Amino acid sequence: MPRSDSYIGSPHSRVDGPAKVTGRAKYAAEYHHPGLLQGYIVNSPITRGRITAIHSGEVLKIPGVIKILTHENRQNTAWMNLKYADMDAPPGVPFKPLHDATIRFNGQPVALVIAESFEVARYAASVLRIDYAEESHATDVRTRLDEARKPKKGLATFLKPPPPKPKGKVEQALAGADVTAGGRFYHGIEHHNPMELFASTVIYEEDGKLTIFDKTQGTINSQLYVKNVFGKSFKDVRVLAPYVGGAFGSGLRPQYQLFLAVLAALDLQRSVRVTMNRHQMFTFGHRPATVQHTNFGATGGKVVALQHDAIGETSRFEDYTEIVVNWANMVYPSPHVKLGYQLVPLDVPTPTDMRAPGGVTGQHAIECTIDELAHKAGVDPIEFRLKNYSLINDADGKPYSSKELAECFLQGAAQFGWKDRNPLPRSMTRNGKQVGWGMASGIWEAMQVIARAEAVLTADGKLTVRSAVTDIGTGTWTIMTQLAADCMGMNIEDVTFELGDSRLPFAPIQGGSFTSSTVGVAVKAACDGLKKKLFKRAVTSFPERFGSTEFGEVNFSEGRLTVPGQEGVALKDIVATTKRGQLVSRNTGSLPLLKLRKVTRAAHSAAFVEVEVDEDFGHVKVTRAVTAVAAGKIMNPKTARSQILGGMVWGISKALREETIIDHRYGRVMNANLAEYHTPVHADIHQLDVIFVEERDEIVNELGVKGVGEIGIVGLVPAIANAIFHATGRRVRDLPITLDKVMRQEEPRKN
Ligand code: MOS
Repeated sequence: MPRSDSYIGSPHSRVDGPAKVTGRAKYAAEYHHPGLLQGYIVNSPITRGRITAIHSGEVLKIPGVIKILTHENRQNTAWMNLKYADMDAPPGVPFKPLHDATIRFNGQPVALVIAESFEVARYAASVLRIDYAEESHATDVRTRLDEARKPKKGLATFLKPPPPKPKGKVEQALAGADVTAGGRFYHGIEHHNPMELFASTVIYEEDGKLTIFDKTQGTINSQLYVKNVFGKSFKDVRVLAPYVGGAFGSGLRPQYQLFLAVLAALDLQRSVRVTMNRHQMFTFGHRPATVQHTNFGATGGKVVALQHDAIGETSRFEDYTEIVVNWANMVYPSPHVKLGYQLVPLDVPTPTDMRAPGGVTGQHAIECTIDELAHKAGVDPIEFRLKNYSLINDADGKPYSSKELAECFLQGAAQFGWKDRNPLPRSMTRNGKQVGWGMASGIWEAMQVIARAEAVLTADGKLTVRSAVTDIGTGTWTIMTQLAADCMGMNIEDVTFELGDSRLPFAPIQGGSFTSSTVGVAVKAACDGLKKKLFKRAVTSFPERFGSTEFGEVNFSEGRLTVPGQEGVALKDIVATTKRGQLVSRNTGSLPLLKLRKVTRAAHSAAFVEVEVDEDFGHVKVTRAVTAVAAGKIMNPKTARSQILGGMVWGISKALREETIIDHRYGRVMNANLAEYHTPVHADIHQLDVIFVEERDEIVNELGVKGVGEIGIVGLVPAIANAIFHATGRRVRDLPITLDKVMRQEEPRKN
C-alpha cells in the first residue's frame, strides 16, 4: 500500500495538540474586542415562586455599571410561542431566561449586570437585592414517584424511542424461573463539569450583525437558537467554537449565557461577554436522578424473563427523556419481557444528555442484575453472557450489522487474567483487604445523521476540508484530517481541516458518538467529488495522458493522479490549469438507509475490573481495569484509546465518587464546586488498559466506523459494582458507592 493510504488506522497525534498545550488555542471567553462589556449573571436563591421586587437603583450608581437586564426591562424576543428553539430541544417549551417573574428552579438566572469590567459586574451582581415570594417545591424524584407519567412525544422521539411493547407473560415466567435476581437501583443528579466554563463573547458589528464565540457542541445549533429566539436571519448570526474545552453533552443545547450575552449586545448595541462561574455550571442541564427496578429470571442458565422499569426526573416545562430500559433485551434474548419508562416533573432545570445518557444508567442496573443472576445460577458471568449471546437484536428481531462482543470477552478476559478468578465472593484477599474481580458488558448505538463538507484543492498543492462541526476534545479534527489525506492520496502535511464555524458546511451537534460516521462520510463524499473533478480536468488538460482513461482506472496517491504504469500528474498541476487556481467540491454524506432499515447498529464492550476494598474504612480502590471494545473501524487508535480511557475514568467516577448533593428542603445544590463535587484525581486512577478488537462492518456506513465517545463508560460502572460484590458479598445498588454504603450491613432504604 502506498504510504498515503495509511493515515486512517494509525495513531496520528492530535493536529490541535500544539495549539492547546502552548496556549495558542482560544476558548469562548478569551476573545477580546475594543470596548467589550462584561455581563455577570445573578441566579435565584429560591427554587419556586416569584420575583416581587428588583432593587436596581443603588447598584446602577456603582461606577462602571452600564445596565441591569431583568424580566422588567428586557426587550421583546421572538420566541414567545416557539417550541423547538434548538436541535436538541425535547418536547415542551424551552426555558426562557428573564422572561417573567416566575422562578422555576434554583439557580435560575434572574438578572444580568453589565459593566465595563468583569470585576465591577461581579461586584455589582453580588450586591443586587431581589425580593422573592417563595412557593413550595419538589426536587427529589424519590418522594414523587406516585406522580410518574409517560413522557410526551416530540421530534426527539425518533432518536430516543420509548420502550418496545411487552412480550410474553413476564410475571408468570419469573414465578417459574430457576433463579431470579434484581432490585432497586438509584443514582442522583450528576453535573458534567467540563474544564471550560460556559461563556459567550458576542461581537456586535456595526450593521447589527453578530459574531459569537460560544462554548457549544454545535455552532449551527447556537446560530439556529439565536436566529429563532431573537428573530434574526442566519446570515446575520455567525457562531464560532474552534476549540471546546470539554462538554460531554452539556453543550448539546445552547445554554443561558448565550441568550443573556446576545440580549445584552442587542440591547446596548455593544459587544458583550458573559461567562459562567463554576457554581453556575450547576444551574442547568444535568444527568437526571433515576430510580430503577429490575427483576430478571433464568432457567438452565438461559434468560427467560426481563422486567425493567425506570423513573427519571425532568423539569416542569420540558420532557427530557433517555433510553434507560430498552437495552436489556437488545443484549439478552428473552421470551418474556416487560419494560417501563416514566418521568416525574420537578422544580429543576431540564436535564441534558451526559456521556452515554440513559445507557450508562440502564446498563448499570441490567449488568448488575445479570451478574447476580449468573451468580445465583452458579455460572461464570462471562459464560452466562456467552450462553445468552445473540447476533440478532431480540428486541426487534434485526441482526446486528456486526457484533464482535464475544471476541471482547475473550481478549479482555485473557488480558485481565480472568481464568484465575475464584468465583466465591470474599474468597480473595491482599494485604488485609478484600479483592474483587467483576465484569460487565456494554452497548451503545452506532448512529449516523446528515452532514455536509467542502474540499478545496489549490494550485500550491494544499487541500482544505471544511465542516461546521466542533471538536470537543474527541479527536474529530485529527481523524478528519487523516481521512481527507487518505481519500485524496495526499501527504497529511498538505491537508488542513477547518471546523467550528457556523459559516462552514452544515454539521449537526457533536454528540451521540455519531460524529466520526456523520462528518466522516461527508468528508469522504466531498473528497470523492473533488477526485472526480480533478480527473475530469486532467482529461481535458492532459489529453495525451488521460484522454482514453476511465475514472475507475486511475489512482490518487502521493499527491498525484496516476494510471498504472505511468508517472501521472501532480494534483497541483491539474489545479494550476483552472482559471481560479482551485477546485472545490461540496457534498452531503450519504446514509445507507435501505440497508440500515434491516439491521441494528451498535458498538459493544466488555469491561473487567479489580477492586481492593478496605472493609474497616469502606474504601474502594480500582486497582486495574481492562475494557475491550468492538466499535468497527478504529480511525485513530491513539485518540480512540483516549476516548475509552476518558470513559473508564468517568466510569470510576460515576461508580465511586460523583454526586450532586441537593438539600431538598431548599432545592439547592450544596456541592456546586470542584472541591466538593468529587471526581477522581490521579491518585484514584491506576492501571487502565484498552483493547480494540477487530470488527469489520460493511453495512453501518461506508467507513465502517461506529464511534467511541460513549461506549467506554457504560460497562465500567456495573463492572465495579460487580467487583465490589465479589470482594465483599454485598450488592450496593445505589450510586455512587461511597464508604457508608460499602460499610453498611443492612439493606438500603426503600426510597
Ligand atoms: Mo454526548 S452526551 O451526546 O455529548
